Amino acid sequence: MARDSVAIYPGSFDPITNGHIDLVKRTLRVFETVIIAIATNPEKDRSLFTVDERLEMVREVFRGTKGRVEADSFQGLLVDYAESKAATVIIRGLRAVSDFEYEFQMAMMNHRLKPKLETFFMMTGESEFYISSRLVKEVVSLGGDVSGLVPANVLEKLATKFQRQKKNV
Ligand code: PNS
Repeated sequence: MARDSVAIYPGSFDPITNGHIDLVKRTLRVFETVIIAIATNPEKDRSLFTVDERLEMVREVFRGTKGRVEADSFQGLLVDYAESKAATVIIRGLRAVSDFEYEFQMAMMNHRLKPKLETFFMMTGESEFYISSRLVKEVVSLGGDVSGLVPANVLEKLATKFQRQKKNV
């Protein structure tokens, strides 16, 4: 493992899934610290969970990792945030070929903005490759069961959130 190395794992994490968790665990084999960085954009935000709710869920999941996994949020450019954290690497997961074009564009743009910052792609685990936060939310909103796809704390928060939304309709 590279000592004192910091990797940033950015995303929406709305909510964190078992696919994200698998990726973080595998990243910890290579990097000392992983910062899960939730991107926020108040003007465009259509997230189900607030940033604070998402941070809390992530922190609960990684409570036992002796501080090697941090959760944070940021506004503005990812490359600026990464620099402020002295991170040398951005981690992104690749599930299928369909992810590639978007990820490639982002990696190239980030590289142009900060050439010293590298993007490392990790293949999502074989049992998680079809999981996405978007699909998880859709399935739960329609009454489907997503246990095994998200951690227990997230499963609970999803149930509460959609029950509340139903009552408000
Ligand atoms: O989970 P997502 O939605 O795929 O994550 C996308 C994210 C947050 C990594 C990307 O939108 C991002 O980096 N946003 C921060 C703003 C920024 O730096 N934009 C330029 C990216 S090239």
